[in-house]
Amino acid sequence: MKPVNIGFLGFGTVGQGTATVLTRNAAEISRRAGQDIIVKSASVRSTNRTLDPLLADIQLTDDSESIVNDPDVDVIVEVMGGDEPARSLILTAIANGKHIVTANKALIACHGGEIFEAAREHGVSVAFEAAVAGGIPVIKSIREGLAGNKIQWLAGIINGTCNYILTEMLEKDREFEDVLNEAMELGYAEADPTFDIEGIDAAHKLTILASIAFGVPLQFDAVYIEGISSITREDTAYAQELGYRIKHLGLAVDTGNGIELRVHPTLIPERRLIANVNGVMNAVLVHADAVGPTLYYGAGAGAEPTGSSVVADIMDVVRVASASVANRVPTLAFQHDALIDTHPMKSEEFQTAFYLRILVEDKPGVMAEITKALGDESISIEAIIQKEQLDGSSKVPIILLTKKIVEGAMNRAIEKLESLDSIEGKVTRIRMETLDAS
Ligand code: HSE
Repeated sequence: MKPVNIGFLGFGTVGQGTATVLTRNAAEISRRAGQDIIVKSASVRSTNRTLDPLLADIQLTDDSESIVNDPDVDVIVEVMGGDEPARSLILTAIANGKHIVTANKALIACHGGEIFEAAREHGVSVAFEAAVAGGIPVIKSIREGLAGNKIQWLAGIINGTCNYILTEMLEKDREFEDVLNEAMELGYAEADPTFDIEGIDAAHKLTILASIAFGVPLQFDAVYIEGISSITREDTAYAQELGYRIKHLGLAVDTGNGIELRVHPTLIPERRLIANVNGVMNAVLVHADAVGPTLYYGAGAGAEPTGSSVVADIMDVVRVASASVANRVPTLAFQHDALIDTHPMKSEEFQTAFYLRILVEDKPGVMAEITKALGDESISIEAIIQKEQLDGSSKVPIILLTKKIVEGAMNRAIEKLESLDSIEGKVTRIRMETLDAS
């Protein structure tokens, strides 16, 4: 059978990782795919670069157009990232009848609808396993392995950089910036690392996961997004003292009254498996009606782990190329004309428990003022600790855990608390989730 030729758009960490896996495991891959898969060409910013000898036969060019217009290229692997020129190049490649494999979560989350429609028109496939949780085959698992289930919620540690930073802050008492720089050097972080630490990267991934879990359109703009830049080492330590870990989670919840799509730091009971996912590792916990909870764990970033997903996608698109579009696994898990346009809930409607850290004047009556502000909004306290006075300061931190409450009520209570004379500065608030499997 004629070999399948691959052209890469971009050839950085993930591109080279993918090409390395394809080349090193070529015999094994061919036995599985029933066809040889050859890396023909790759577009790069500068062609004066030295590649690993294993990749020496790949033609490098600085002209991406020549790759998407090359009649000998069957599958385009887009690993350049970002919006443009990736979007336009992919649309040209689709118009030229090429299948697309991409690791570009921002592109799928924000322009997936347009790209999938073009692909349907031209009878080609678009695959994007590597866009979510790197090497973990979570898209395939949800889309195909859980196809018989109604999915109730999912919660994922889907940004390795955030998880790495939170883990190092807790375990090694390291500074935020210091750990972030290391994550950038190791190639985990995005080109613009604010995408990681402000939660945008996780929101791109959550958008994709929610769509395939619930059969809703991709709606990145509707995700509530909070990053980890306001989390302090004190918070990670207090949470631990109370039996919790702080993780940056993406949550998609079908509440029965609407869908919650949210990305934010979250306290999770430390006894949960997912609370013990550390470093750059990712994990996605999916709760579905028939199977119950399932947990997918693995490397969320890095050259070969992400390459592993890209290669599996290449093999998939090659295998199904001869099937009619109607007989392929739907790109977003549900038939494209069966997506339900459920608008996600507003953040004031979310229901969660909270961790609050409040810096107060150390004087009688302050606790009563705090409990009144919470009580007035029917917020019930689950646990409370007051730390000792810090050296030379008249202020002490009070840490509170509340029961579940609608977020609008918590917003009002925090506004009242911040207006009290005995309270210094802003109240730190972090949402809590028990992630009960029942
Ligand atoms: N910057 C991403 C992360 C890379 O840290 O998880 C993988 O998408």
